[in-house]
Formats: sequence, structure tokens, C-alpha cells
Amino acid sequence: MTKTSTLLGKPLSRVDGRLKVTGEAKYAAEFNVSGLTHGCVVSSAIARGRIKKLDTSAALAVPGVLHVFTHENRPRAAWFDRNYQDEDAPSGSPFRPLHDDELVYSGQPIALVVAETLEVARYAASLVQVEYKTHSHETDLRARRGKAYAPREGKGGFEPPPKPRGHADKALAHAAARIDAEYSSPVEHHNPMEMHATTVVYEDDGTLSVYDKTQGVMNTQKYVSKVFHLSPDEVRVRSPFVGGAFGSGLRPQYQLFLAVMAARELKRSVRVALTRQQMFTFGHRPTTLQRVALGVSAEGKLEAVIHETVSETSRFEDYIEVIVNWSGLLYQCDNVRLDYKVAQLDTYTPIDMRAPGAAVGVYALECAMDELAYAAGIDPLELRLKNYAERDQNEDKPFSSKELRACYQQGAERFGWARRTPAPRSMREGKQLIGWGMATGVWEAMQQEASAKAVLSIDGKLIVSSATADIGTGTYTVMTQIAAETLGLPVEDVTFKLGDSSLPMSPLQGGSWTVSSVGSAVKEACEKVRERVFELARKVKHSPLAKARLDEVSFDGGHIRSKEDPSRAVSITEAMRHGEVLHIEEQTVSLPDKHKQSAYTLCTHSAVFAEVRVDEDFGTVKVTRVVSAIAGGRVLNPKTARSQILGGIVWGIGMALEEESVLDQKLGRFMNHNLAEYHVPVNADVQDIDVIFVDEEDTIVNPLGAKGLGEIGIVGVAAAIANAIFHATGKRVRNLPITPDKLL
Ligand code: MOS
Repeated sequence: MTKTSTLLGKPLSRVDGRLKVTGEAKYAAEFNVSGLTHGCVVSSAIARGRIKKLDTSAALAVPGVLHVFTHENRPRAAWFDRNYQDEDAPSGSPFRPLHDDELVYSGQPIALVVAETLEVARYAASLVQVEYKTHSHETDLRARRGKAYAPREGKGGFEPPPKPRGHADKALAHAAARIDAEYSSPVEHHNPMEMHATTVVYEDDGTLSVYDKTQGVMNTQKYVSKVFHLSPDEVRVRSPFVGGAFGSGLRPQYQLFLAVMAARELKRSVRVALTRQQMFTFGHRPTTLQRVALGVSAEGKLEAVIHETVSETSRFEDYIEVIVNWSGLLYQCDNVRLDYKVAQLDTYTPIDMRAPGAAVGVYALECAMDELAYAAGIDPLELRLKNYAERDQNEDKPFSSKELRACYQQGAERFGWARRTPAPRSMREGKQLIGWGMATGVWEAMQQEASAKAVLSIDGKLIVSSATADIGTGTYTVMTQIAAETLGLPVEDVTFKLGDSSLPMSPLQGGSWTVSSVGSAVKEACEKVRERVFELARKVKHSPLAKARLDEVSFDGGHIRSKEDPSRAVSITEAMRHGEVLHIEEQTVSLPDKHKQSAYTLCTHSAVFAEVRVDEDFGTVKVTRVVSAIAGGRVLNPKTARSQILGGIVWGIGMALEEESVLDQKLGRFMNHNLAEYHVPVNADVQDIDVIFVDEEDTIVNPLGAKGLGEIGIVGVAAAIANAIFHATGKRVRNLPITPDKLL
């Protein structure tokens, strides 16, 4: 970065904010073309079995219905290799919509009715008659835990649990104090505001313009071209705005397949938008059953950590996430045994949801740490400080940076932790039981290969682009800042483009890696432009910078200036005019510096403090205060960064108290598939939230020093709340969500 850093670190408001609040921002189901047709999905009512008979005649008889696609008439060509895996696919065979008569989960798409209008399509879909041959299904993880196995690896980034170190079971038996408990977390669904939808515009030349709700246009493009045997130039995918996704848009979903299939077959433009109910039919955060056993010495030193988890997957893919590894990383302990298994259920494959693995695994560990603190008679924060990990013992590596101590210290001070009285039920106010709890959070700081293009025009305007996404994360804004900063331009002169597969390659937006990956590419592309414009500036006739070197100048306000004598300056426009250059274009591919990074463990951390008030008579819980102190490297935009963390904390409140997709085991079906019965926090549930970013310098993670903040916000929140509830009530509820009935 230039020395005269003005933009990075500033709380710039979203550059796309106006578009979003005025409705000008268009989402996948809002791109209209003349002659657009509408597809409505018919979903399976049983969890396992076969379609004996599908009668579509009544649907086809409705005026305006164009076609009803089923497994019996789907185009034969439209299929792909069972081994094809999208960028976020776990190992196994991906689900193939309308492939045959086999039913593998409740809610599975079994027909697509396409009509001239949405109303006709929806009505006709209700007339499709299905006869099932029902087989018995198994959807209860507790009943299936005996069948659990170590999943096949395959998904990029998945790390199996490290080998045991020391003798955890023996150390546990000899510990001065110990706890051994089972925790569980339920299925959750992402429930973004925008429902999944795809609009396929069938162009005159037969190519497809696809508007898809996705976290990765390139992933969608690859999927469509692979499945439908098209060349990538025949499929252009756009997703300029996404109304929340949280992981649900990482994999291509069935509405994409169905819309493309119908458009190709009918040679018409087709939109398929899922209903809120159907949002519960393509992936979820899986149920976990977790045993955590911890032992501590009389001095408060952690002697044993055992964390065993059974989670769920489908019959056709091995969904895996990193749930237990954090327990070997977060605290110093020489005796650790971690185990992770999955059991197959007759459901769709789970899919990543914000901080996949960590959100649930750290929840269990951090509740167990709280229980251990009580068992040992040590303050919960003190216990964590006593066992602070200076190194990652899983990998035997140092951390690239770790300001978790500062998080504990600053968070505790802001919260007022020192005023806590340790005994449960000791802080009541009338009928209200007040509780204070805390927990640690951790997530990875990852970087992926990404590319970006920067085009500087003679009028001083800069356009930077990359095929990444902005799922509400603030990507448009932060990339604009990085670009403007690097070339010293006012933000108004910089445009960042994303969400288009014709732009330079980018990975999925996920894993909290976008700033790190795409941001590095944007920075590099703009640095190359800088070099070129500087060369032109030196060559201007009688240039005051003729003898200057690049490191002796700064870029600001559209000028290149000598740092020593700012009056010696050349404007960008002047340099380009003199060089007779209308545009300077540079494209770069930015790769993580694996050599540099591999010697370290790269993580973000947090310390979360929560206050709850529990009504003694009703068992209702209000989270009245949350203080979250985050160590996430350099914060490029404190405003969008804070919003990320706020969102994570609000979700943590939901995870602790409300969210649960309830599956009727007899039907094998999620029953509360709507926002009336699937509870998420509303404004009244969200009170005082305070976010602190502690200073953290990191030169290893990437050239920007930013670690990514998309996921760390949720990690630890549910545990801090659960621990606060114990402090308030003396009741330890180990099964999320902690609903009032569990407290009475
Ligand atoms: Mo995130 S669960 O990687 O979208």
C-alpha cells in the first residue's frame, strides 16, 4: 500500500447500498425478458421409495401449460458423469434431478411444470398425481449412530482429525477434576431472504444467459456446461446480487438444472424459483451428537481432551466438516483424542452453513470448558488463559499471528466480567435471573487462487473486475477501496464488477476467503497498472518525476507525486495523454504464498461475552448484551466488518435459542418449513451488541494482512449464551436450541 493510506481502514458505506435499498439491485428471479416461461417444481412427499405412477395429464390439459418434465421424459442428453463434482461437492455421487424413479429424500423434485405464467404453472403442478411405492426410511441420527463410519475424504480443505497425542483416556481418569458430557445440535436451514431461483434466457443463437442465485458464477457455469455438454462460451452466468446465502449457494441446486433443461428443450427462456418450503429441500447444517470429556489438574492445567462427534450425511455423498479438530487446537493440552464419524440418513446431503463445523464443534467444546471451570472451581476466563495455546499442537506449528489474549482482555473489560459473581443464580433481579457467560471462537484464515482485471482510462476512471460474488458481505465496497487506495483515486472514480462468469476467474465466495483471495488479486492488478502509469509519468516531457523510482512516489487524488517534494507531480490523465494511451489494462492471477504460509497455522479468533435474563416463571431467555472481541488481522472497512460480525452474532443467538428444523421421523420430512415455525431472531430478540476489533498484524496470511471475517462472528456465540444461561439458572442444557420448555 502507499504510505498515504487514506481509504483502507475507513468505514466506507456500501457502494451498492443505494441500489439495494431502492430495489434497483436485481436478483436471479428479477431478470425479465419477453416470452419468459415459468417452471414450478413438484416435490416428493415420501422420503424413500419409487415413483410407481406419475399422471401429468390433468396438468398438461391446463391452457398455458407447455410441458411437464419428469424422469420419464427428461432429455437423455442432459446428464453428467456420476463422478462430476462441483467446487463444493463432497465425495460420492451428486444428486441428479429427475434421473429415474428412485426417491432418496422427502422433498426431492419429481416433476417440473412449465407454463406461460407462474400462476398457471403453480396451479398445474398441484394437479400432478403421483403414486408411490414406499420403502422404509431412516432419518434419525440417534438411531443410526451405531452405523457411523469415518467419511471418505474428497472435499477440498477438509482435514480429518489429527492422530491422538498422549494418552487422553488415562489422563482423564487421573485428572483432579473432570467432566464428560454429550452435547447435540439440530439441523438448521440457511433461510436467506432471497429464495433460490434461476432465470435462463434462451438467446437467439441458442446460447444461454443464466441468472442464478449462487455464491460462485464459475461453479455454476462449469456445472451447466458439464451436465448439458455445452462449451463454456455457450453459457454465461450472472449473479450480480445475492440476497443472502450463508453456504446454501455454494453448490449448484436443482432449480438450476431444471431451468436449464427446460430452456434447452423448449427453446424458450425459463425461470424456476423455489418456494420457502422448497428451501428446506437441498441441504442443511447437519445434526451433531458430540461427546466432550475434559480433565484438569489441581492447578487448572488441562490434562485431557476427548471430543467425539457423530454427524449425518446422505446415502449418496459423504458430507464432511471440521467439527472436532478445533478441540486439539484451541488450548494447550498434551493428551488429546479426537474422532469424527458420519452416519447415512435418507435426507439430502448436508451443505456448508456459516462456519461449517466450527459453529457446532466449538459450541460443544466451549460449553464443556465452562462445565470444567465449575468442576474445578476456576473462573471460566481464567481457565482459558491458564491453558492458552501458544502453538498449534495439532500441526505442531506456530500461529502466523494470534491476538486472542487481547480479545479476552478487551472483551472482558468492555463487558465488565470482573464484576461477575461466580455462583449460579447469584445475580438475579426480581423474577429475572441474570447470567454472564463467555466462550472462545476460532476459524481459519484461508486464501485461494483468484484473478482480477484492472482497466484505467485516460479520464482517470478505473474499472476492476473478478468473477467473485457479494452475498451481502460487502465485496463490492471493499474491492473498490483496495483498488482506489492502490491507485490513489477517489472512490467515485472506481467501479468494481463481479458476479459474471465472463470476468476473470474467482473461487466461490465462501470460507471467509474473498478479501484474502480476490482482494490480493485486485491489489496486484492495480499495482501493475500503477507501474505502467508511473512509467508514462516519467516520460512526460520535462517530467518532474523523470528520475524518480516507484517507491519514491505516492498516488493520490489522481496524481503521482514525489514523496519528498509533493509539488513535483504528474496527473494520471497527463501521463496517459502524453503517452498516447487510452487505457491501461492489467490482469493478474494471485496465488497464496504456500511456501511462506505452510510453516504456520492461520486462524482468526474471538472472545465472546454474553448476558442473558431468564424469566424464572416462563423460562424465556433474552440475550441482553453481547460483547465480541475479534482478532481477524487487518480490518479494511470497520463498517462492513462490524456488519459481518453483527450478522454472525445474531445467528448465534438463533442457534442458541431458536433455530431447529424439526424432522418428523415417521414421515422423514422437515415439518416447520416456513418462517412462521422455523424461528430466527427478530428485532426484539436482538439487544445490545458490541463488536471490538483488536489490533492484529499479520504479514503471512496475504499481502493485505486481512484474515477474513465472514464466519468467525458466529463461532462461540451459542456457547457463551448457553454458559450464561447456566450461570443464570443453574441448569445445564446441552441440546440446542435452548427453548423455554428445557428451562422449566
Ligand atoms: Mo460459507 S458456509 O463458506 O458460505
